[in-house]
Order: sequence, then C-alpha cells, then structure tokens
Amino acid sequence: MNDVAATSPNVSLIELLPADAIQEIDRWIAKYPTEQRQSAVIQTLMIAQEHNEGWLTDEWITAVANYLQMPKIAVYEVATFYSMYDLKPVGKHKIYVCTNISCKLCGCDRIVDHLKQKLGVKLGETTDDGRFTLREFECLGACIGAPMMQIDKTYYEQLTTEKVDDILQSFQENE
Ligand code: FES
Repeated sequence: MNDVAATSPNVSLIELLPADAIQEIDRWIAKYPTEQRQSAVIQTLMIAQEHNEGWLTDEWITAVANYLQMPKIAVYEVATFYSMYDLKPVGKHKIYVCTNISCKLCGCDRIVDHLKQKLGVKLGETTDDGRFTLREFECLGACIGAPMMQIDKTYYEQLTTEKVDDILQSFQENE
C-alpha cells in the first residue's frame, strides 16, 4: 500500500469498468446530494471488486477514490473496515458460513468441519484449484434458516452435510 493519502489522476474507473457498471455506480451516486458523491463508496467498491475477480488492488482503490473525488486513504478505510472486501486474491466463489449463536446452536460446527474436509482447506484459505475461499462469518441475518451459509450473493439455509454436498456439486456441474 503506497502513498495512500494521495489520489492518482492517472487511474480511471471508466477505463477499468464496462459502461453498464459505471451506469450502476452513477445511479448510486444520484441517490445522494451532489456534494456527497462519496456516500456511494460502499456500492462502488462492491462493483469494482466484482469486476476484478473478487478483490481490490491498489489501482482499483485509487480509481474508486478518483471517481468519487475522495482521498484514497478514506477509500482504504472503508475497504479495510468491512469484511466483504478483499485486498488479496480470493477464490472464484466466496463461502461464508455463519458461526454466530443461532447457527452455532443448530450445528454450524458440523457444517464448517464438513466444508473444511470436503474442500481440503482451513477457514480463511482458498482451494488449490482457486474455486472456493472458505470463511466463517458473524450473523448474516438469516437466523431462522440456521445453520446457513452464503456463497457469493446467495443464501443457503437449514444446511445439512448432504445439502452442502449437493450445493458444491451444483457448482461443479454449472462450471
Ligand atoms: Fe447465523 Fe444469524 S446466527 S444467520
């Protein structure tokens, strides 16, 4: 991370993203007062991350800062505060298993162990083939469906080890 306090006028989000992604960011920016375009930083970072294989490089952070006219360090503060952003390469799919209280009471430990064994990784690691990054997560707000996990943007609830196998298999079949 070099020179995070500065912005680099040479990096443009418009050059990094397709037009429809820029339009989506502009729609978020339009929800806020004109002088508050930086309020769209969370969504802009999410869109940027989705277009860079699930993680953010210094170049992308700089481009977001430039586009939102905010200090690069302020973008870094957001990107490093929230766990949904990655600043290092990740697997093609991110698996977040909730290990908070409701999921804990409903057997998430068994689900975590099964995923670790099935994928051959520990929590926080990425499979050798680069397909999955496995993580535990605090409550994902779907306690009624405990135990549950999120893969990319989809929630999977009332998990059993058999259901986990089916879900992983469906990823296999769809790629
Ligand atoms: Fe797992 Fe709330 S405790 S979703």
